[in-house]
Amino acid sequence: MERILVIGANGQIGSELVEALAAKVGADNVIAADIQTNSSTGAARYEKLDVLDSTRLAQIIDAYDVGQVYQLAALLSVTGEQAPLRAWSLNMNGLLNTLEIARQRTESGKPLRVFWPSSIAAFGPHTPAVNTPQLAVMDPTTIYGISKQAGERLCEYYHSKYGVDVRSIRYPGIISYKSPPGGGTTDYAIAIFHAAASRETYNCYLGPDTTLPMIYMPDAIRATIELMDAPADQIGIRSGYNVAGLSFNPRELAAAIKARRPEFRIEYRPDHRQAIADSWPQSLDDSCARADWGWKPEIGLDELVDDMLLHIAPRWRTSTPECMNEAA
Ligand code: SER
Repeated sequence: MERILVIGANGQIGSELVEALAAKVGADNVIAADIQTNSSTGAARYEKLDVLDSTRLAQIIDAYDVGQVYQLAALLSVTGEQAPLRAWSLNMNGLLNTLEIARQRTESGKPLRVFWPSSIAAFGPHTPAVNTPQLAVMDPTTIYGISKQAGERLCEYYHSKYGVDVRSIRYPGIISYKSPPGGGTTDYAIAIFHAAASRETYNCYLGPDTTLPMIYMPDAIRATIELMDAPADQIGIRSGYNVAGLSFNPRELAAAIKARRPEFRIEYRPDHRQAIADSWPQSLDDSCARADWGWKPEIGLDELVDDMLLHIAPRWRTSTPECMNEAA
């Protein structure tokens, strides 16, 4: 069985991807790697790795005879603005190190398939915001978005020049409950559930009408694995595929939560993150992903909200006794 390396395995996507891949190919065939000393997710195989250390990265790939790498280590849009040089260095060199090893292996007849996440952040204020096409003006304004746009170019370059089998998705905001919200502009849509579960008024840092493309984690994981499993000749795009899940704004999300938890309260206090959100698409045209490798989203707003409240609420029920009655 082919071995798979997941870099950034302790992160939001990584932790759930490791679990899904382990269920698919067996835990022994999945190597989780992250900069922390230990796995935060109980992966069967774990390696401490700074992706900027290309020697160690190559050693791990050789030692396990890895056939696929998911390079997920990155700083997101908000944390990236706090440390732009670090974000650029990590986001670009992490990808370059991986692509270089993939190039060498491809040239020596042992190809390495690479997955790298792009983002809606690669688009900018002059991109058509509604039903954003696969090919559009891209003028990102954050260092994170600039690194994603440049990364897409690198992926396409390494594929066309060296034949590296690299694949990528422009992820919308990913909503999940297993890891805390961390560093993204779209993360209000996670934080809102934590506030609802702990019965706090949610102070939303985006205005009520800020519509953004989003995807629920199970759909995001399925898209990722389906893209990596597709035959190479079906992958017509080597930069990053638009993949749509659903689109909503804070007002719509709050209404869906309120329909299930009438006591829920939200206030709007837009801050510097509003400008980032305003520069991103509201919805995506993902017809290329649908045509090339059969992408189809499954999870809509009602299912997402039900599932988030179901999974976040138990922690709340056990820690706050008076809430047990209400939830029962
Ligand atoms: N979720 C990311 C962010 O908000 C976008 O890819 O930074």
